[in-house]
Amino acid sequence: MKQHPVTAARLTESELDQIRTLIENRSAILLDASRERFFSTRVREHLEEKGLASGSELLTRVRGSSIEYEALLERLLTQETSFFRYPAVFEALEKKILPEVQERKFWENPRTLRIWSAGCSTGEEPYSIAITVQDALKFAEAWEIEILATDVSRRALRHAERGHYSKRSLQEVSLRQVETYFTSTKHGFQVAPRIRRMISFAQMNLVEPVYVGKIDCIFCMNVLMYFSEEHRLAILRRFYDALEPGGYFLLGHSETLSNVPMKFEPIVLGDCRLYRKPGAVEARRAPALVEGAQ
Ligand SMILES: C[S@@+](CC[C@H](N)C(=O)[O-])C[C@H]1O[C@@H](n2cnc3c(N)ncnc32)[C@H](O)[C@@H]1O
Repeated sequence: MKQHPVTAARLTESELDQIRTLIENRSAILLDASRERFFSTRVREHLEEKGLASGSELLTRVRGSSIEYEALLERLLTQETSFFRYPAVFEALEKKILPEVQERKFWENPRTLRIWSAGCSTGEEPYSIAITVQDALKFAEAWEIEILATDVSRRALRHAERGHYSKRSLQEVSLRQVETYFTSTKHGFQVAPRIRRMISFAQMNLVEPVYVGKIDCIFCMNVLMYFSEEHRLAILRRFYDALEPGGYFLLGHSETLSNVPMKFEPIVLGDCRLYRKPGAVEARRAPALVEGAQ
C-alpha cells in the first residue's frame, strides 16, 4: 500500500479513501481525482495540527464526534470570495433584476424583496448584494428586505457576521460606497449596521432540504461545482421551486446550466448569464429544457 512520507503521521491510500467517502456521504462534497492533491495535502495538514499519528486515528475521532467532523470539513472547504467578485453580475442586479422586481411588486403591500446568497463564505457576496440593493432600490425604506446568507461553514459565517474586512479586501468597493456603508476601524473597515441588518446569516448544508420560503433572486456562485451531478440537480430543483415566478438564478462566471429539466430561461447580459424562472403564464409555453445554454 502506498504511503505518503511528507509528514510524520501515517496516512495510507485506504485511509484517504475512507475519509473521502465519509465527507462525500455526509456533506455531498465531491473530492474526485481532480482535487486529489488539494485533498491529501489538507488532510495531512489536519493530522499535523491535531497531533495525530495516523489516518485511522483521525477516522476514529471524526466518526465519533460531530465537532471533530466539522473541524475536518472546514479544512476541506474552498472559501475563496471577494466583494463584487463579478462586476457584471452586480450590474445585472442593479439594472435588470431590481427594476423588474420593483415594477412587479409596486402595488404589493407589504412590498418584500428576498435574495438568497447560497454558499456565502465569509460574507463579501451578501454584503455586495446589500450595498447594490441600497444603492439601486428606489425608496428602499418602503420595502421589507431580507438577504438570506447561508453556508455550511460555521467559521466562515462567524467571519461574515463580524462584518470586519481589511482595506485590501475592499479594492472593488468604490470610495463612495466605502464612505457610505463602512466605518473605519483600527485594523480595517466595519460594515455599517444598516447594511448588516439587511442580512440573515444561517448555517445550512445545501444538500439537506430546508424550507426557505419564496425568493426573488438566488446567487449560488462557485458552489455547485463541488457536488455530484445527482446532488447538483436536486439542489437546482429546490432553487427553482423556491424562486418566485419571474425570479432570477445566478451562477459564477465559468459555470453554466445545460440540459437541466427545469424551465430556466437563459438571458445573456453583457458579460453575465442570468437564468430566469418564467412567470406563471410564460411557464406554460416555455421549452422544458435549458439546452447547452452558452
Ligand atoms: C468558493 S466559495 C464561493 C463563495 C461565493 N459564493 C463566491 O462566489 O464568491 C464556496 C462556498 O461554498 C460553501 N459550501 C461548500 N459546500 C457546501 C454545502 N454542502 N452547503 C453549503 N455551503 C457549502 C463553502 O463553505 C464555501 O464558503
